[in-house]
Amino acid sequence: MSAILLNHIDEVKSDIKQWKNDNLKIGLVPTMGALHSGHASLIKKAKSMCDRVVVSVFVNPVQFGPNEDYDKYPRTIEKDKHLCDELGADIVFAPSAKEMYGENVKLSNTDLTFVCPPYNYIDCMCGKSRPGHFDGVATVVTKLFNIVQPDFAFFGQKDAQQLFIIKKMVKDLNMNLEIIPCPIVRETDGLALSSRNSYLSLDERKSALSISKALFEIEKLYKNGVTDTSILFDSAIAHLDKKIELEYLEFRNFDTFQKVDEISKNTLTAIAVKIGKTRLIDNIILR
Ligand code: PAJ
Repeated sequence: MSAILLNHIDEVKSDIKQWKNDNLKIGLVPTMGALHSGHASLIKKAKSMCDRVVVSVFVNPVQFGPNEDYDKYPRTIEKDKHLCDELGADIVFAPSAKEMYGENVKLSNTDLTFVCPPYNYIDCMCGKSRPGHFDGVATVVTKLFNIVQPDFAFFGQKDAQQLFIIKKMVKDLNMNLEIIPCPIVRETDGLALSSRNSYLSLDERKSALSISKALFEIEKLYKNGVTDTSILFDSAIAHLDKKIELEYLEFRNFDTFQKVDEISKNTLTAIAVKIGKTRLIDNIILR
């Protein structure tokens, strides 16, 4: 059966109302489209846990900075819809920015109510180089939760800081759903799948491979007993291709988000880099 493509909030709400009446478990997979196997893994997980699955496809303007790639972000709705059909999603919700935020409004907190995650968790890692990004993410995700009222929402560990912030928001604001984290899906050579990989030239694609290599090197050393993060940092950096510009490589406790000097259980090792104009992130969790 194919999914229904809906562009309007009211249409989604009316289907959700029916599903709620029928006591069905609803899963939401929020995405910005240009779907790949990473997104597909979230949709499959949602299908396995829920009676009905909504996939949102929305390139959310308020989470992009002024000099970021909002305009050139890949938009492939027909392909996305096709994948959602194949995977058995029920609704593909693809609203316009006007539908989500209204007409003639400035997309900023002068005109709109924003949900702002706490400073301690956004003034670091991706939040540091992307001011306002997580306010935009938390705001759109809250709106999607309010529209779809899911029992479960599925997020990739690929965006580990986003996952942490959304879980915290759900807890702090007593939101009535459970966040289901899903593991990172990689190409066979190790590169984490990302919609932004399509920006890479062949040469850049080769350089990008060293990102996961650096993380796997850390994992290998850790398994051999090295827990000092400064040693792990140095050996990872040595694996990075010369063309790569490092933004951060950090070690944090994934329960508290505090930085750690020694790896202990559940340590997030996260990296962000630039290759040419393309910004990529990846991580592993050392347990
Ligand atoms: P987007 O980058 O499209 O990602 C949608 C979801 O897919 C996120 O939860 C992300 O972590 C997950 N994902 C991406 N690549 C993955 C991979 N290789 N393996 C597993 N999961 C992967 O993240 C966003 O969109 C937006 O910020 C959004 C939450 C939709 C809010 O606008």
